[in-house]
Amino acid sequence: MIFKKSTPLRGELAVPGDKSISHRAVMLGALAKGTTSVTNFLKGADCLSTISCFEKMGIEIEQLPSEILIHGKGLHGLNAPETILDAGNSGTTTRLLSGILAGQAFCTTLTGDASIQKRPMTRIITPLSQMGGKIESLSDNGCAPLKITGHPLKPIHYLSPVSSAQVKSCVLLAGMYADGITKVTEPYLSRNHSELMLRSFGADVISEGTTAAITGNPVLEGQNVIVPGDISSAAYFIAAGLLIPGSEILIKDVGINPTRDGILKVCADMGADIQLLNKREYGKEPVADILVKHSELKATVIEGALIPTLIDELPMLAVMAAFAQGTTVIRDAQELKVKESNRLDIIVQHLSAMGADIIPTEDGMEIHGGKPLKGAVLDSYMDHRIAMSFAVAGMAADGETEILNASCVDISYPEFYRDMAAISAS
Ligand code: S3P
Repeated sequence: MIFKKSTPLRGELAVPGDKSISHRAVMLGALAKGTTSVTNFLKGADCLSTISCFEKMGIEIEQLPSEILIHGKGLHGLNAPETILDAGNSGTTTRLLSGILAGQAFCTTLTGDASIQKRPMTRIITPLSQMGGKIESLSDNGCAPLKITGHPLKPIHYLSPVSSAQVKSCVLLAGMYADGITKVTEPYLSRNHSELMLRSFGADVISEGTTAAITGNPVLEGQNVIVPGDISSAAYFIAAGLLIPGSEILIKDVGINPTRDGILKVCADMGADIQLLNKREYGKEPVADILVKHSELKATVIEGALIPTLIDELPMLAVMAAFAQGTTVIRDAQELKVKESNRLDIIVQHLSAMGADIIPTEDGMEIHGGKPLKGAVLDSYMDHRIAMSFAVAGMAADGETEILNASCVDISYPEFYRDMAAISAS
């Protein structure tokens, strides 16, 4: 895909449904009694991987044009799959599903693509083993493929060394199969969609500070879930609207859960003109329309408790910082090294190629913003967030930017290029 400096962005759009919430709706719908309807489900490759794993375990899922219907079979209703389960590129599928599989009465093998087979799974093998789970990394490197032999589980209080919603959710989902109360405490609070949705489906889940606790053997009841627009997908339009002079865009129906809204806080700090309109709730998830106007941005510091609330937006925020006046510091972001790609390295490599003044650090980077950026040829390395962040960089930079392996946006936002083109006259 080739991007040139854009004329002002104008108009309104709705971004696709939230990826994290879509995954969880399928998982809880499958384990609930009765039918769950999911409106605005994200039909991206990651969430389709979750659907296919549950279909292989005997769950009937109907994909209709306006909703998906999941015919749940209760907490103990999954069947042993006849083949290996394939999570594709999806860390959420791999880690959350492992928690569910650990408590089943059968054995499964779960794997994914080349990227998934390099991502750390010890972070879930450790707590699941403490619960009595039998999880084996078949390549003996702490990564997938994972052989999961279902086993009776016991409750634990897990002190997670990382702030990760995937680890927290894995343990909470396994906790459904343990008698008693399973707790997870994390250093900083990560996204809480699992806790909110488990509660909506009828589980007893208590959150206190950075600890979440679930009581085992819940009876989950099918629900009607409306998925808010994904703030991580809205991030590219927020950034494009702020960076491209003369722009004014309205992004409708976006989830603004406080455990996900770090990008809005950082934008406010950078001097962005952003308004949240029409605030309301879809179930327990807060939603708003986001009005973005072009703004002159200034540098900021992004660190600590903010990091988990904007973890997937850091590639986009780093690009914004390169266009902002002053030095932006990103710290405590070592988790970026173990995402779909090593995002810390790739951000530094690509922004340097575009002429930015950027210095990598152990756990982040320093970006000396304000130098004009020029187009470059940039590989996405098959990482959807790298492709979309640098597409926006290309629309704000001088010259022409070519994104290689651009089709990987189908992981979280299949219509990204079409939607962006629709609001850009050029
Ligand atoms: C997700 C949690 C985050 C995030 C990922 C989705 C989730 O990962 O980066 O895109 O749905 O729970 P970590 O839990 O590894 O931080």
